[in-house]
Amino acid sequence: MRRKLPAVLLSAALAFVVTACGSGSGGTTTADDGKITLGFSQVGSESGWREANTKSIKESASTAGIDLKFSDAQQKQENQIATIRSYIQQKVDVIAFSPVVVTGWDAVLKEAQAAKIPVVLTDRAVDSDASLYVSFLGSDFVKEGEAVGDWVLNEYKDATGPVNIVQLEGSVGSAPAIDRKKGFEAKIASNPNLKVIASQSGDFTRADGKEVMTAILKANPKIDLLFAHNDDMGLGAIQAIEEAGKKPGVDIKIVTIDAVKDGMQALADGKINFIAECSPLLGDQLMEIVKQIKAGQPVEKRIITKETTFTQEQAAEALPSRKY
Ligand code: AHR
Repeated sequence: MRRKLPAVLLSAALAFVVTACGSGSGGTTTADDGKITLGFSQVGSESGWREANTKSIKESASTAGIDLKFSDAQQKQENQIATIRSYIQQKVDVIAFSPVVVTGWDAVLKEAQAAKIPVVLTDRAVDSDASLYVSFLGSDFVKEGEAVGDWVLNEYKDATGPVNIVQLEGSVGSAPAIDRKKGFEAKIASNPNLKVIASQSGDFTRADGKEVMTAILKANPKIDLLFAHNDDMGLGAIQAIEEAGKKPGVDIKIVTIDAVKDGMQALADGKINFIAECSPLLGDQLMEIVKQIKAGQPVEKRIITKETTFTQEQAAEALPSRKY
């Protein structure tokens, strides 16, 4: 018995090292060439923000020398689940994904955990148990909605009558749509003059933003303010407002979230009145997290992206050096 003990301990220690290094089952993927393999499932290419986010992830992986397997889910959860399952089969070292919606991830996350492949959430949250993923890197969407709500509160602090507000929501069931709405509506609730008269999803795209706003304009002759959950829907709505013969930023004030270049240009041009930033530049931080996991180092469970807000004057100043 005494002689057997060290061998048992040795194999247990080896098993721990393989797990701590975050290798796929058996750790075969990285043992050969020493390279880390990251499987990333992206939401889609619905917005300027998303394009900038994809670029950031691809560039940062290449700079960090990480072998990136990248897949675009075209805003469909079933595509993301199929991709994650294929990354599990391929025994990648780490899986990262930006979940299209909040719910419905338990089964696939448990499969990744059973295969000992660490999962990192980027950009968007899930409602699964936090033990099913290692870390979540992304913005505080409630705070973004609150920042917009604060601007609106201040803008209409002296209003003596109703202020009619339209909200263009992001993709149904997605974390940014849920949280931005929550943060915004909680803030404006303190002024009873501020009334949301219509609130519909524009799926975070410019085309849907235009289509939904066109219909809302037809049904509502008096709109004072539009809150679009992202720049792209706001930019689509601007086209609808102009086609309806109104002046965006003046006849209808517009507030959005993201601060991508097109949005910032519209803000500097006076067609948007205020933007809360949501940074898509997550690539470098994600690669750092992946390396830490692979090295068996502890990583923070929640990493919140640093962000700011922009007025029209601040946008004009920031535009020349804007990275996305
Ligand atoms: O999850 C981040 C959001 O998704 C961005 O604000 C929006 O533009 C994108 O589509």
